[in-house]
Amino acid sequence: LRRSAHASTSARYNSVNADDIAHFSKFLPTSTILSTLPPQSLPSSELSPFNDDWMNKYHGQSTTVVRPRNALEVSEVVKRCNERGIAIVPQGGNTGLVGGGVPIKDELLINLGNMNKVRSFDPVSGILVADAGCVLESLSEYLAPHNHIMPLDLGAKGSCQIGGNVSTNAGGLRLLRYGSLHGSVLGLEVVLPDGTILDQLSTLRKDNTGYDLKQLFIGAEGTLGIVTGVSILTAPAPQSASNVILALPKFENVLPLFVQAKRQLSEILSAFEFFDREVYDLAIKHGQGRALSEEDVEGAECFVLMETSGGKREHDEEKLNQLLETLFESDKPLINTGVLSQSPAQFASMWAIREGLTEAVSKEGKAYKYDISVPLAKFKEVVDTTREHLGSKGLLRDDAVKHVVGYGHVGDGNLHLNVVAAAYTPEIEAALEPFVYELVASYKGSVSAEHGIGVMKTHALHYSKSNVSIEWMKRIKQLFDPKGIMNPGKVLP
Ligand code: FAD
Ligand code: MLT
Ligand code: ZN
Repeated sequence: LRRSAHASTSARYNSVNADDIAHFSKFLPTSTILSTLPPQSLPSSELSPFNDDWMNKYHGQSTTVVRPRNALEVSEVVKRCNERGIAIVPQGGNTGLVGGGVPIKDELLINLGNMNKVRSFDPVSGILVADAGCVLESLSEYLAPHNHIMPLDLGAKGSCQIGGNVSTNAGGLRLLRYGSLHGSVLGLEVVLPDGTILDQLSTLRKDNTGYDLKQLFIGAEGTLGIVTGVSILTAPAPQSASNVILALPKFENVLPLFVQAKRQLSEILSAFEFFDREVYDLAIKHGQGRALSEEDVEGAECFVLMETSGGKREHDEEKLNQLLETLFESDKPLINTGVLSQSPAQFASMWAIREGLTEAVSKEGKAYKYDISVPLAKFKEVVDTTREHLGSKGLLRDDAVKHVVGYGHVGDGNLHLNVVAAAYTPEIEAALEPFVYELVASYKGSVSAEHGIGVMKTHALHYSKSNVSIEWMKRIKQLFDPKGIMNPGKVLP
C-alpha cells in the first residue's frame, strides 16, 4: 500500500550511488554499511528487515543501510546527504505501527542500532543518559540493580529503542503513573538535517531559559533530525507490585470501575488497561499468556487489567483487597470475577496477555490499526459502529474482515481499534477511511493517540489539527529541513 504522494516526492531526491558508499567508507567501518550497491552488492533480501515494517504492511526499496556508532558518524553521513540531496529515514527498532520507520522509495536508512551505550546514570537524581539506539528492555535491565525503572513500558520493549520511543512520543503501559515523554525527557542530542549536532543533553530538572527546543523532536518521527542521545528521568523501582484481571459483564461498567479504583487505590494505581472479549480470545488462541479459567471468563464482555505498585506490600495489598471486597460485596457488582496474581510468574503471565494483544492480532491476520483518543464512554460505541459499518458493506466475511476488536489504555483515553482482515485490500481500506477518522472527529478525538502519523495518516492529519496548526508545522519543518531530506512523506501531508 503506497500513497501517490510518495511518487512525487521521490523525484526531488538523488539515489545513493557507489561514490556515496565510497565516501561513507572513509569514516564508517565496512561492517556498518549494508548495501546492494558495489562493493557490498548484497542481495536485497538482506535489507528486508530494514525495508519492511513490523506489520509487513509497508515496504521500502532502500539500497543502503548505514549503522553509525556515534553522533559524529551520524553527522558525517547526514552532511553528505544534505550536500547531495539524498533523502534519509532514521530507524530505531523498526517496531513502529504507522510505516514511519521504513523508506517509501530508496531513501538512505540510518539505523541507530550500533549506538547502544549507557552514557551515565545518577542514582540520586535517577537521571539516565543513553545513546538513542539503546533497546528499551536493556535500559530496564541496566536500571534494575540500581533500583530504578524506565518511566515507560510497552509490548515492543525487546526491540524498540529509546530514540524511537522519543521520536514517536511512545505512550504505553505506564503513562497513567509516570506521564508522557514530554515530561520525563530532560534533554536530547540531535543531528540536524545539515549535519549540525544540537547538544541539548541537559540533566537538569528545571531549565527555563527560553524555548524548549527538545520538545519539537519528541514525537517528530524523524522529520526534523536524528536523535542520537537521550537524557531521561527514571523512577524509583516500586517495592511492591500486584496485578489483577477483572472480568466485566458489560462495557458500561468500565468507567464506574475506573472511578472507584482511582478513589480507593489513589497513589498506588499504576495501570488500568482494557481489552474486549474477542481480542482476549485471540490472545489465548495465539499463545499470549496463560488462559484464565473457564469460570473466570464465563459471561465476560470485556476485561480490565489493573496494576498497583507502591512502597509497602502490606499497605498496598490491604488497599487492593479492600477494593476487591467492595466490588464483590456491592448490590450491583461491576465485575463478575477477579483473578489476583499470586506469584511473580502469574504477574508476568497476566501482563503477557495484555502485552501480547498486538502480536495475537498480527498472527490472526492483517491488522488495520486505528490508535485513537476518544471519550472513554465511547470506546465500545466506536468498535460496534465500525463493525456495523463493515457489515453494511458486506465485508464481515472470513475472506475479508475476520474481527473488529478494541483494547487500550483507559487511563489515557486511548482506544486501539483493530480491524483484522484476511489481507490488506483497497476495498477494506476504502470502507474504513475516512469513516473511522470522521467518527473520531465527531467525538473531537485524535486520529493518533500514541503511534504517530508516519506514512499511514498524513492524509488524516487535518482531522485532528487545524489548518493553522498544520501551516505552522510546515514552517517548522521548512526551518529545520529546507531541502526536505529528513524522512520525506511522513507526518506532514
Ligand atoms: P522505529 O519503528 O524504528 O521508528 C519509529 C519512528 O521514529 C519512525 O518515524 C522513525 O523514522 C523515527 N525514529 C526512530 N528512531 C529515531 C531516532 N533515533 N531519531 C529520529 N527519528 C527516529 N507504541 C506506543 O506508543 N505504546 C505502546 O504501548 C506500543 N506498543 C507496541 C507494541 C508492539 C508489539 C509493537 C510492535 C509496537 C508498539 N508500539 C507502541 C509502537 C511504537 O511506536 C514503537 O514500538 C516504538 O516507540 C518505536 O520505537 P522503534 O525504535 O521501534 O522506532
Ligand atoms: C498497545 O497498547 O498494545 C500498543 O499500542 C500496540 C497496539 O496498539 O497494538
Ligand atoms: Zn497502546
